[in-house]
Amino acid sequence: MRRLAKLTSISFGVAFLGIQLFSIPITPKASATSGVGMSQAINPQVGAILERSCQDCHSSHTTWPWYSRVAPVSWMVSKHVREGREMLDFSGWTDQPPSTDERMLICDAVSDGQMPLPEYTMIHHKAKLSKQDVALLCGWAAATNAPRTLPLVSNSRNQKE
Ligand code: HEC
Repeated sequence: MRRLAKLTSISFGVAFLGIQLFSIPITPKASATSGVGMSQAINPQVGAILERSCQDCHSSHTTWPWYSRVAPVSWMVSKHVREGREMLDFSGWTDQPPSTDERMLICDAVSDGQMPLPEYTMIHHKAKLSKQDVALLCGWAAATNAPRTLPLVSNSRNQKE
């Protein structure tokens, strides 16, 4: 019985090391916003929320903690980042601010709790969005042509929730 347990743990160990050979390298894309954060590119409050909760998957400013490099977690993480960047990439926003459609898509995704992904907030507790965060993002999304100058904060603070 003890031999079986030992054998089992050895084979798990070997399998674990084996799958490390199948790590998927992600080459960080050259960043258009290097040096300039989202806070500077768009509204500071909105930028801060996006940097905290979204940019790991939706920009080339991804922080890769050690466990994100260990298979099988790395498979899931790299898939999320690849697909997230394909869907929506903040990195070009300094040159080309997000369109109204893009902003509305963001509002939709955070309003129904689809984003940030629950797999992410499970580990990154700080990435969870409050009702105020969602209201702020949606206020910014609905604002036309003047995303920098609207008094979004005072609006969302006055809202009774
Ligand atoms: C852990 C990675 C991850 C994080 C963090 C994350 N996303 Fe995503 N996002 C994805 C992936 C993967 C997709 C594409 C697949 C999907 O829709 O589930 C996606 C899709 C989207 C889409 C397109 C949805 C659609 O239906 O077309 C929007 C908009 C979006 N994300 C916004 C955000 C915003 C805003 C945040 C932060 C509040 C955020 N995401 C955080 C990974 C992430």
